[in-house]
Amino acid sequence: MGFKEEIARRRTFGIVSHPDAGKTTLTEKLLLFGGAIHVAGAVKSNKIKKTATSDFMEIERQRGISVATSVMGFEYEGVKINILDTPGHQDFAEDTFRVLTACDSVIIVIDSAKGVEAQTRRLMEVCRMRRTPVIVFMNKLDRPGMDAFDLLDEVERELKIGVTPLSWPIGNGDQFKGIYNIHRENLQLYSASIQTITEGVEIGDIAGRELDERVGERAAGKLREDLELIREVYPGLEREEYLAGRVAPVFFGSALNNFGIREMLDCFVEIAPSPLPRETEERMVYPDEEKFTGFVFKIHANMDPNHRDRIAFVKVCSGRFLRNTNYYHVGLGKTLKFSTPTAFMASKKSIIDEAYPGDIVGLHDTGNFKIGDTLTEGEKLHFKGIPSFSPELFKYIENADPMKSKQLAKGIDQLMDEGVAQLFVNQFNGRKIIGTVGALQFEVIEYRLLHEYGAACRWEPINLYKACWIEAQDAAELEDFKLHKAQYMAKDKWGRDVFLAESQYMLQMAQGNYKGLTFHFTSEF
Ligand code: G4P
Repeated sequence: MGFKEEIARRRTFGIVSHPDAGKTTLTEKLLLFGGAIHVAGAVKSNKIKKTATSDFMEIERQRGISVATSVMGFEYEGVKINILDTPGHQDFAEDTFRVLTACDSVIIVIDSAKGVEAQTRRLMEVCRMRRTPVIVFMNKLDRPGMDAFDLLDEVERELKIGVTPLSWPIGNGDQFKGIYNIHRENLQLYSASIQTITEGVEIGDIAGRELDERVGERAAGKLREDLELIREVYPGLEREEYLAGRVAPVFFGSALNNFGIREMLDCFVEIAPSPLPRETEERMVYPDEEKFTGFVFKIHANMDPNHRDRIAFVKVCSGRFLRNTNYYHVGLGKTLKFSTPTAFMASKKSIIDEAYPGDIVGLHDTGNFKIGDTLTEGEKLHFKGIPSFSPELFKYIENADPMKSKQLAKGIDQLMDEGVAQLFVNQFNGRKIIGTVGALQFEVIEYRLLHEYGAACRWEPINLYKACWIEAQDAAELEDFKLHKAQYMAKDKWGRDVFLAESQYMLQMAQGNYKGLTFHFTSEF
């Protein structure tokens, strides 16, 4: 197969959801369809259970699982599918955002009883920012849930995206009878099967009597009415609208029962984008360029505390990645060669000789990489679209063991490279501030510093509202601001200026007094 064909047949995407909506179950069923696994239960959930807040063994166990499930590659009808796993726990939302930077499209799973939930809304904001094409899967139709039209309205309103239903449910809960495939114009009658893939009974013509006989006259009448309304209200699928991130195709089903998934998967392989061109600060990079480029979107520390090595996950953006070949690490300005690059097929890790745009390669790393780093064949490129977001919680980190200050500094540095949390160094007093999305991360950092680096830390409270990256029209105004707010100025890991606002009020004051400055809650604008 030629280089261009290899690119065209790749689909790299992430499945996201609010915890418990069914992301893990759906992932597993997709792998079943792809023949990558043969029984349900093979993919372990990597979610950290709510009770596990202080159960570190559980966190460690989960970290192990999430290495294995970081990327799940499989073949389906000639298409190479790469599913990128995203952490479900909301305290790790930042990790999820970063994984999204490596996805060419996204499937959002929504619990049809609960509708759009908080985490889904936040994830969608990130997709919208990047104009990522989105497909919605309404899950758990076997349970009593919201009306299907209400669900569509809610998605439009809450996720601020147009919708086009491509399948449609007949009832829900114990009245759930089946799914009409609008895309293919046939009907699948519901039969529950958790373990394997079943073929539902198909009915071709829904105008005929067979439908009434199968699902009852009332349900049949309702389906015909619904479909008429759908045709009037919702536009048919226009791929361009989907690819531009303006309209989301919507499917209904039950992941647990393997129902409604094939419809989505078939449509997905047909419409989802193959690897897209990517922006760098210097120029656009196209997947079919001859030379290899890629960027690191995730770093995973290995489980063995005696070896501080890590796996850096690289998304191939252009060209062919080859084993044992010299590549240029733009951040370090040096050349590196990788003898054991790994890929993940059918949830098994194996050493590979080559990889194509869209693929994810795991590189053994002894501390060379941080999130966002670029590899090329020599060109100095910096990929865009891997922003940091303002953390929600902040604490000073202090050394609790003066004999171990070097270990602590190294540990903090490496954990921040991994993207566990963000480090800000206050320029006024030189103190280190750690910012996180959730409280759990502070515990993870403390635990890992101790167990992997032998360093002890202490947290001290600091009252902060947000970290803001500053955009200035006028350099003099920025200098004036930095002088006046010296106490609140910090540098992030990349050496960028960050204003640490104590409160919303203080931020508003700053915005009022410095009209030429714009304060952003993300590092890219
Ligand atoms: P997540 O990764 O999004 O957090 O969700 P996950 O797939 O773990 O699913 C959350 C719960 O919802 C699981 O039950 C799962 O079995 C259930 N579930 C997923 N899809 C469906 C569906 O279509 N119908 C029904 N009725 N339930 C579904 P659990 O009891 O929390 O976990 P488990 O003990 O079954 O693993």
